Amino acid sequence: MYLAVLGREPELSNVELESLFGKITHLTNNLSLFNSKTTPDINRLGGSLKLAEKLSERPLEFLSKIEDGKITIGISDYSKGASKKSTTLEAMKLKKILTRHGRSVRVVLGDDAVLSTATSLHNGLSGKNLRKVEFIKVDNDYYRVIGVQDIDAYSRRDQGRPARDAKVGMLPPKLAQILINLCGPLRQGSVILDPFCGTGVLLQEALLMGYSAYGTDISDRIVGFAKKNLDYFKFTDYKLEVGDATNHKWNPIDAIACEGYLGKPMSNIPSEIELKEQKQECSSIILGFLKNLSGQISKNTPVVIAAPAWLRENGEYSRLEILDQIENMGYNVENKSREGLFYHREGQIVARDIIILRKV
Ligand SMILES: C[S@@+](CC[C@H](N)C(=O)[O-])C[C@H]1O[C@@H](n2cnc3c(N)ncnc32)[C@H](O)[C@@H]1O
Repeated sequence: MYLAVLGREPELSNVELESLFGKITHLTNNLSLFNSKTTPDINRLGGSLKLAEKLSERPLEFLSKIEDGKITIGISDYSKGASKKSTTLEAMKLKKILTRHGRSVRVVLGDDAVLSTATSLHNGLSGKNLRKVEFIKVDNDYYRVIGVQDIDAYSRRDQGRPARDAKVGMLPPKLAQILINLCGPLRQGSVILDPFCGTGVLLQEALLMGYSAYGTDISDRIVGFAKKNLDYFKFTDYKLEVGDATNHKWNPIDAIACEGYLGKPMSNIPSEIELKEQKQECSSIILGFLKNLSGQISKNTPVVIAAPAWLRENGEYSRLEILDQIENMGYNVENKSREGLFYHREGQIVARDIIILRKV
C-alpha cells in the first residue's frame, strides 16, 4: 500500500493517481492511499509531493535493522493535533534509544509537524539512501518515504530551456506530466501528440517519461523554438511539424495531451464583451481541432486538453461551454460530472480547466 502526499491541487493529483493506479482512498484532503504492483516513481507524477510505503513495523524496529553507519531521520506527522513539538519529541526519543545502542543519529527538524519537500529533499530523505529515512505518521500508521518530488530538477527543466516566448507562456513541467498521466497507463514508446506544442514543454516531459513525442503548432517560429529546446536536452525520439490543428493530418498516434490555445494573456478580470470574444475564439479552435482529430484516431484513444477558464468578479471561473458539442463529435467526456478540474494560482485570471476525453 502506498501513500501520496498531494500537491497544491489535490483534486487534480487524485485524478492523476486514479488514472494510473485505479481506485484510491482519500485519507485526508492532501493524503491518498493506493495500490500498485510495481513501485511507483515520484519522478513521473506531477501532482504528488512525496510517496511513501506502509510499514508493518514501528520506526524503531525498522531503524534497528539498518546496518552500520550514521542514520539520519525525519518524521512528518499528519495526525490530528500533531505539532512541531510532538514530532520533535518523538524523533528525539528514537535518537536517544538508538544512541544508547551505539548508533550515530542525526535528526532533521522542520518548521512544522511535517517536513517540507525542500527540507526532505535537501537532507537526502528521498528514499534513495537507506540510512536516511523519513517516516510519515498518520494516527497509528507509519509509512516510509520512498520518493520526494525533485523541485530542483523541475526548475532546471523549466528555466534551462534556451528558447522561450513570453507571449506563448510556459506550461509548467509538473502540469505537463499530469496531462500525460491523465491519458491513463500507456506502454513505453507510445506516440503522444501535442497539436498546440508551443515551445515544447509537454513534448520534453513525454520524452523524459519514455514516450515518443509528436508536436505540431500553427506557428513555424514557435516550432523552431520547440526544436531548439528539444535538441538542447539532446532528445532524438521526436517529430515536429508546422500545422493548423483544425485541419492538419497527423501520422498515427496513441494519445493526445495538450494545453490548448488559452486566448489573450490577461492581468485584469475581462469585461463581459472581452470574455465573450475570448470564449468564442478559444471554443472554435478547440472544437475545430477535435472535429479534425475525430476521424484520425481509433476507438478509446485518450485526449486530454487544458482549456482556459476566466476569473469573474464573484471569484468563480467561467468555463468554455463546449462539453455537449464535444460529446456529439464522438468523444466521451470522462470528467463531465465534475465542477471543473482546475490548475491555477490564487487570483490567476486565466485558469487551466482540464478536460479528459476518450474517443468512442
Ligand atoms: C498556450 S500555447 C501552448 C504552450 C505550450 N504548451 C508551451 O508550453 O509552450 C498555445 C499554442 O497554440 C498555438 N496555436 C494557436 N492556434 C493554433 C491552431 N489553430 N493550430 C495549432 N496551433 C495553434 C500557438 O501558436 C501557441 O504556440
